[in-house]
Amino acid sequence: SRPPVSRPPARPSTLPPRPAERARLRYIDDAILLVAPEGHIVSAEPAALTSFRGPILDLRPAVLIPGFVDAHLHFPQTRITGSASGPLLEWLDRSVFPEEARFHDPAYAAAVADDFIRRLLLAGTTTSVAFSSAHPTATDQLFDALHRTGLRGVAGLTLMDQNCPEALRLGHREAVPAMRDLIQKWHGKDEGRLRFVITPRFAPSCSRALLEAAADLADEHQLFIQTHIAEQPAEAEAALRACPWGTDYLDIYDRLGLLGPRTLFAHAIHLSDREWDRIAEAGARVAHCPDSNFFLGSGRMALDEPRRRGIPVALGSDIGAGRSFDMRRAMSHAFDNALCLGNRLSPAELFTLATLGGAEALDLADHIGTLEAGKEADFLAVRCPDHITTEAEILAQLAFASEESRVLRVYVRGAQVHPIP
Ligand code: GUN
Ligand code: FE
Repeated sequence: SRPPVSRPPARPSTLPPRPAERARLRYIDDAILLVAPEGHIVSAEPAALTSFRGPILDLRPAVLIPGFVDAHLHFPQTRITGSASGPLLEWLDRSVFPEEARFHDPAYAAAVADDFIRRLLLAGTTTSVAFSSAHPTATDQLFDALHRTGLRGVAGLTLMDQNCPEALRLGHREAVPAMRDLIQKWHGKDEGRLRFVITPRFAPSCSRALLEAAADLADEHQLFIQTHIAEQPAEAEAALRACPWGTDYLDIYDRLGLLGPRTLFAHAIHLSDREWDRIAEAGARVAHCPDSNFFLGSGRMALDEPRRRGIPVALGSDIGAGRSFDMRRAMSHAFDNALCLGNRLSPAELFTLATLGGAEALDLADHIGTLEAGKEADFLAVRCPDHITTEAEILAQLAFASEESRVLRVYVRGAQVHPIP
């Protein structure tokens, strides 16, 4: 029998998928990072060679690095970090949904938004890609908090209208106008630092009408879409129970128009070769969340699958199933994850995943992700112990000894956002 939905025409991929960035880092000892007043990097060069004669802020002996990109986390799970225990679907019912329901209260959402921002800043995350709760007001508050702080952020109203408590249910008739308001108010604001992302929670919690409305709105505004896929086998079973016409988990998103060159899938652990091939063909991206995958017992994503297909891979903390906002911890967990599968990732590769990898997965690599001339100056000043002096030692500290490398200052588009100046 024919499926009740038809596959939309394949959207053209805007980017030729890039082969995984092989770490090609450049370390400059005693450098000057020259930033134009409006926030772009003019140059990064050895101090001895600079012809610049203006005022210089001397941050030595700190190391300047690009700000971290956390490509997947949940704002309303900030306060339940550490509560996760598998299986996923039971944890959602027991801990996540009751906590997210509290975001109905603007006072609660405002208090958690402050926590969320503070923890991003302490971790040196300059770009976050967040699920909000199912509440338009809380989502507005999240954007407002990013805006007031000056952080870069991609955030979306979490869509769900089934298999969830009544308090979190948001049908497409309410969700679409609420998203239109949020898009109008926030998408592209702050010189493009803020972006709205269409955010269906995952197939089990969304009706077909809601998923289709989400796809239409994304198409209309050319927005990124983020959702979860193939995190745990029971979740895939629930997805296919909800959408029995799907041939596999990815096919559900594909047929409803949610798979394209601006789709970012979190987890992507239990996928078939067909699904990986189709993700590559569609030009979609994945957010690798190794800490969450360990902590919830979800399994290990084989990084080789996206890499050999040229699928951009970003790194996500997946707060609150992950245990830390710190992308340096995520780097360390990505190492452990790969090691379990027989591969060793170098500190340089891990660092690239947490910076340029995130930028590429968001189509922001022309703007952020490195400290190259022309990019926006999103960077951190990080203090390593005095005995750490070489490039290799610094990278190893960042990836594997994060408590020894403190984030002293955070800049976004050239403006200091932490500590508040
Ligand atoms: N899948 C759907 N919702 C969630 C969530 O909040 N956390 C995780 N880890 N997986 C999900
Ligand atoms: Fe998640």
